Amino acid sequence: METKVKDIIAKYGVDPAQIIAMLQDLQSAKRYLPEEDLRELAAILGIPLAHIYRIATFFKAFSLEPKGEHIINVCVGTACHVRGASRILDELERQLGVASGGTTSDQKFSLETVNCLGACALGPVVVVDQEYHGDMTPGQVDKLMENYR
Ligand code: FES
Repeated sequence: METKVKDIIAKYGVDPAQIIAMLQDLQSAKRYLPEEDLRELAAILGIPLAHIYRIATFFKAFSLEPKGEHIINVCVGTACHVRGASRILDELERQLGVASGGTTSDQKFSLETVNCLGACALGPVVVVDQEYHGDMTPGQVDKLMENYR
């Protein structure tokens, strides 16, 4: 773990202005921002830990809790909602055994919602690891999940 923070510092230098890029690298390497790493970064960069936490909690892309290997985003924006997004979300929650915002105990999946992905014509839309799946129905959820299990 220590090594990773050192790798990031080696890449960006001791430059507090690069903090967001550093956190992005840390997030993608570990799928979350471990507290010990944030403390180490704060100490090396000479910036308050609270400042790093403010950034970490401001951007939705960052997580302070471990995330699953696959991130599933269900659009619950208006267009997707009227086309049945909540039934798709229900089905995913049922199959994964976690509520929206949660991560499965095997750390394989995180289930999240988003308010509009800008692809309303394809609604309801589910995005798994940046891959868009449009015109979803609850009956298609099982087949979709098979690709990631
Ligand atoms: S409301 Fe779902 S993509 Fe716009």
